[in-house]
Order: sequence, then structure tokens, then C-alpha cells
Amino acid sequence: MKRIVVLISGRGSNLEAIVHAASAERWDARVVAVLSNRAEAAGLAFATAQGITTQVLDHQAHASREAFDATLAEAIDAHAPDLVVLAGFMRILGEAFVRRYEGRLLNIHPSLLPAFTGLHTHRRAIEAGCRVAGATVHFVTPALDHGPIVAQAVVPVRDGDTPEALSARVLAAEHRLYPMAVRWAVDGRLRIEGQRVLQLDGAPQHLFHDEAP
Ligand code: GRF
Repeated sequence: MKRIVVLISGRGSNLEAIVHAASAERWDARVVAVLSNRAEAAGLAFATAQGITTQVLDHQAHASREAFDATLAEAIDAHAPDLVVLAGFMRILGEAFVRRYEGRLLNIHPSLLPAFTGLHTHRRAIEAGCRVAGATVHFVTPALDHGPIVAQAVVPVRDGDTPEALSARVLAAEHRLYPMAVRWAVDGRLRIEGQRVLQLDGAPQHLFHDEAP
């Protein structure tokens, strides 16, 4: 059975979606540990209730990014993961950390990358007049929000949308997109070729259109 370690900082709704999908779809993989840099992250309670090992690593207790990254890597490696999944993990990871997990480190970003890297993606998409928005699952590389794209979900931007309304629509799509992409990864179905991610079998279902309200 493949081993997944999930890193969170907050709510953990993507973590929940992945844990539920793994059990409902009987994946040959399971989430073995959830690590958070914030003790108050709501996702920790969910993980504990599921019987998943949790650990809090306070970045503020470390003198530098490199020191925190090293502690984090040690905690991750203790679980010997096949895949490390960032699910709302709000720390930027340094180059050495990212290289250590190259090809087995996934992130979800709430925009259609390469548009809107960074924060406040929904507000910025509305202000830019975008008619569609969405989320992107990508392999993590040292350049923030720029790694090879595994899958994207597209949702409409509606007239009168607030950032909150758009965020809820994108999040619903994330909850379908991320488990799908994580499953492809743990099933060994993905191959990275430069900036492109290819699926080893079947049609490349990299675009996932969601018409949620
Ligand atoms: C999601 O919008 C994700 O795209 C972003 O952070 C949010 C995490 O939400 N990276 P949750 O903690 O999974 O509920």
C-alpha cells in the first residue's frame, strides 16, 4: 500500500476529500500522517478522528526557513511516504526541500495557473474580468506555483460574483479534482516531461469542467 503524507495549515477540506475518496474508492494507498505548521488547524481534528497520526511543527519556533524545512523533512521522512500532498499548506518551501521530494510533491492552487499565482486569486480573477476560474494541481518545483500541471478544474465566473461565492464554487471543484489527481500519482500513472505531465494510460483527462452553482 502506498503511503501519503498530507501537509495542512488550516481548514483541511481538501484533506477530507482525499481521505474519503481513498476509502470510498478503495485506493491502494492511504494517508498515513497529517502534519501542520499551525496547532489550531481544523484539519488536525478531522485527521485524529480518522485515526490518522498528526504532528504540529511550529515554523515560528525555527530561526530560518531552512531550519524549519529541515525539521519538516525529518518529520515527513519518518513516515516513508511515496507521495507528499500540500493541501492548504501556507508556507513557502525552500529549494533544498522541494528538490528532496521532486516528482512526489503535489500542491493545489486555487486558480488556473499560470494565471494568478500567489494570494487572493478569486478577487483578482473577478477584478480582471475573467469569465472562468478554477484550480490547478501541480508538481511542486522551486518556483512558487509554477510546477508541471497535473490537472485543472474550470468553473464559470458569474455576473455579480463575490470572492466568497467564487471561492466556494472553486473549492467544490477542488474536492473532486485533488483526489482524482492524487490517485493518478499514487497509481504511478503520471510521467513528467519538462513542464508537461502525461498520463501513462488512457485519454489525458487533464481538464475537468465543473458546472457547480
Ligand atoms: C484551497 O483553496 C487550496 O486551493 C489552497 O488553500 C485552500 C485550502 O483549503 N491552496 P482546505 O484547507 O483544503 O479547506
